[in-house]
Amino acid sequence: MKRTTKRWRASVGAAVAGIGILAATALSAQAAGSTLHAAASDQGRYFGTAIAAGKLGDSQYTTIADREFGMITAENEMKMDATEPQQGQFNFSSGDRILDWATSHGKRVRGHALAWHSQQPGWMQNMSGSQLRQAMLNHVTQVATHYKGKVYAWDVVNEAYADGSSGARRDSNLQRTGNDWIEAAFRAARAADPNAKLCYNDYNTDNWSHAKTQGVYTMVKDFKARGVPIDCVGFQAHFNSGNPVPNNYHETLQHFADLGVDVQITELDIEGSGSSQAEQYQGVTQACLAVSRCTGITVWGVRDSDSWRASGTPLLFDGNGQKKAAYTSVLNVLNSGEGVPGGGDPDPGETTPPPTGGSGCTATYSEGQKWGDRFNGTVTVTANGNISSWTSTVTVSSSQRISATWNGTPTWDSSGKVMTMRPAGNGTLAAGQSTSFGFTVMHGGDWTWPKVTCSAS
Ligand code: XIL
Repeated sequence: MKRTTKRWRASVGAAVAGIGILAATALSAQAAGSTLHAAASDQGRYFGTAIAAGKLGDSQYTTIADREFGMITAENEMKMDATEPQQGQFNFSSGDRILDWATSHGKRVRGHALAWHSQQPGWMQNMSGSQLRQAMLNHVTQVATHYKGKVYAWDVVNEAYADGSSGARRDSNLQRTGNDWIEAAFRAARAADPNAKLCYNDYNTDNWSHAKTQGVYTMVKDFKARGVPIDCVGFQAHFNSGNPVPNNYHETLQHFADLGVDVQITELDIEGSGSSQAEQYQGVTQACLAVSRCTGITVWGVRDSDSWRASGTPLLFDGNGQKKAAYTSVLNVLNSGEGVPGGGDPDPGETTPPPTGGSGCTATYSEGQKWGDRFNGTVTVTANGNISSWTSTVTVSSSQRISATWNGTPTWDSSGKVMTMRPAGNGTLAAGQSTSFGFTVMHGGDWTWPKVTCSAS
């Protein structure tokens, strides 16, 4: 099924060469995936969700989960406190229920998580030093052995890096056993289950310019250089307005992949609603598709009401099990097969081109949807004082071309690169009022933002 993408690309090339009829027939013969996992599988990826054992009796929940997802993570049931509630006494009952449900429905399982500073059983929280190190390694060995041959991957170590600007390890009882605790855990996991992919998993590692991202990257690079067994890096991807999807997300994923590991989006949720949430989901999906070693995406729950952050409505199905706009945007991107650079909101750490003011108005550019060959942009014209009309220019780069416009009357200069937009009707704006127009840019591989100006009369 991976051929779908290649055939599509081939058909585009052929069409450009003027021999597109046969290839176009091949394209239309390809059925689009009608579920997330089917569409992701066509791209050689998986699409998964977190499952809670306590909800396996909810038929709406299991119906959606069975229909849409092909990779299952136990939301809590394989964690340290669940699997070793008393030292040396293991309890796999809830984890096994999830594994059995998944495998009996033809799905694979991501194991989560073998070693973590959080959700430790009480007995472990009170331990330190070599006693804790031994207990942790025994836990990794016993749990990975129990699930040997049954899981696709393990999050061997979860969240070991600190937030903020240090780029250093997080302080924890495990870290205090010695800086080599992470590699010791990976070696124990490899010995117990040689066929499971072994991942390091963390959050706030999405933005390439953040110190935490760099800290994890340096560790993975070092592990690869020294032969410490690591196969993948998981990006939890819990986003909200204070922590938006960075627009360098694909770069982050690609840099890690270039180290020779798979990358996976492991716990995706994006707080919000409507088209803004849908656009951000689209950006994350595109970023994964843009990186060939991004092997799959898992969302952290089925319906909004199942989420650990339910009040933020961060998932793809609403509380009634209905598909949200975000669902449709993810499915469409998966079916288009086109990965493009970019996440959702502009990176707060990156500079936004300053608004350019003419005499009496200001024009600001904001980016819209992105596709493989084009992107949308919006220009907002704001009147500084009362104005009776305005003119705004939009200049694109030499490889870009504006292919469509709306909410304005455009004219072009002879180069075709400078568009002058005038109001479609009455251009009167009172001081502080604004209006906007939009356009589509065929980018030709150049994602640079168009330059905009404004002048008023
Ligand atoms: C969360 C679960 O969703 C909650 O039910 C639980 O109360 C706390 O943990 N990072 C992780 C996940 O790796 O295991 C966490 O899951 C969310 C943050």
